[in-house]
Amino acid sequence: MPPFRRICTQIAPQAGSITSLSVGQQNISQVLVSQQPPQPPLQGLRTAVQPTHKFFSIDTAPQSMIPSLQKQRRDFFLTQRLAGRRAIITGAASGIGLATAHLFAREGAKVLAVDLPGDRLDAAFKGTAILTHGQSVADMDAPDQILEAARTHLGGVDILFNNAGIATNSLVERTSDEDWDRTLDVNLRAMFRLTRAAIPDLKTSQAGRVINTASVMAEGSGMGLSAYSASKSGVQGFTRALAIELGKFGVTANWLLPGAIRTGMTQGLWDQRPEIADTWANKAVLRRLGEPDDIAKVALFLASDDAGFITGQGLSVDGGLSLRIGG
Ligand SMILES: NC(=O)c1ccc[n+]([C@@H]2O[C@H](COP(=O)([O-])OP(=O)(O)OC[C@H]3O[C@@H](n4cnc5c(N)ncnc54)[C@H](O)[C@@H]3O)[C@@H](O)[C@H]2O)c1
Repeated sequence: MPPFRRICTQIAPQAGSITSLSVGQQNISQVLVSQQPPQPPLQGLRTAVQPTHKFFSIDTAPQSMIPSLQKQRRDFFLTQRLAGRRAIITGAASGIGLATAHLFAREGAKVLAVDLPGDRLDAAFKGTAILTHGQSVADMDAPDQILEAARTHLGGVDILFNNAGIATNSLVERTSDEDWDRTLDVNLRAMFRLTRAAIPDLKTSQAGRVINTASVMAEGSGMGLSAYSASKSGVQGFTRALAIELGKFGVTANWLLPGAIRTGMTQGLWDQRPEIADTWANKAVLRRLGEPDDIAKVALFLASDDAGFITGQGLSVDGGLSLRIGG
């Protein structure tokens, strides 16, 4: 057995996968091949090797495994872009937030997933290392509670992904004060209040990041979208000002403008009326709907070191939906 000094734990979902690579060793072609049934991921670094695991050099692994092991080794080194980062993600029980929570965790982040309390949130992360906090972001004490959970369980915050949102649809003349306030409360006010609470932690982070989810409806709009568009335009204005204030602390603040994405927000309507989904897919120049992963990957980029010189910017992730003025 090679003298593994330090083992990165990355428990593979199935036997025959790379579960660990030696760190600080010359020979990085040594791979650990799990003989174990599926296991949940473990956190952190371990120094002991489980006796039930067998070691192979990639050169002596069974021939049939070599292509897969080579690919996994490459992937392993390309990943872990958020190693050691601590992330709060709101709206994490579904859609974009759910995909992002899993992606951030796979990339090495410690994640606190925030969403409305209930079975859906618990079920979404059961058996993973992702921690959950069930509370409406619009609650008065939500910022204090969420930050306390992050400080206690993650040790602070490096990345704040304000993503929770609701869609409302009602003509202006029929929109009640309550509907207006609820939309603005969840989509904008809660974002402001949680960000304000996280600023002390972000300032002390080595790579503080705020990522806010707006929408293509921040720049365009549609029938019945006055409250939603107002809230999402507000996200842009808020994030621009935030970027200016936090820049001197090395903290970036950017926002995403997703197009038509297949999530909990849209799937119900699209199932009932597939022609609406088709219309959105055809409006996009890439001729398809977006998937949660399409947005999660861009959130990962903005959260990573690669985006360290980007701040105060909105990134459209819409397959070209917002590109066409006509035709
Ligand atoms: N799906 C799209 O086409 C689309 C397009 C543009 C922007 N967006 C934005 O993307 C974000 C994520 O939405 P999604 O599309 O993944 O939809 P989704 O409904 O699948 O996920 C939104 C999540 O936010 C949670 N949430 C709602 N109100 C909350 C509250 N008060 N407190 C805590 N959590 C709350 C929901 O429970 C849900 O899990 C939203 O801000 C939405 O406005 C979505």
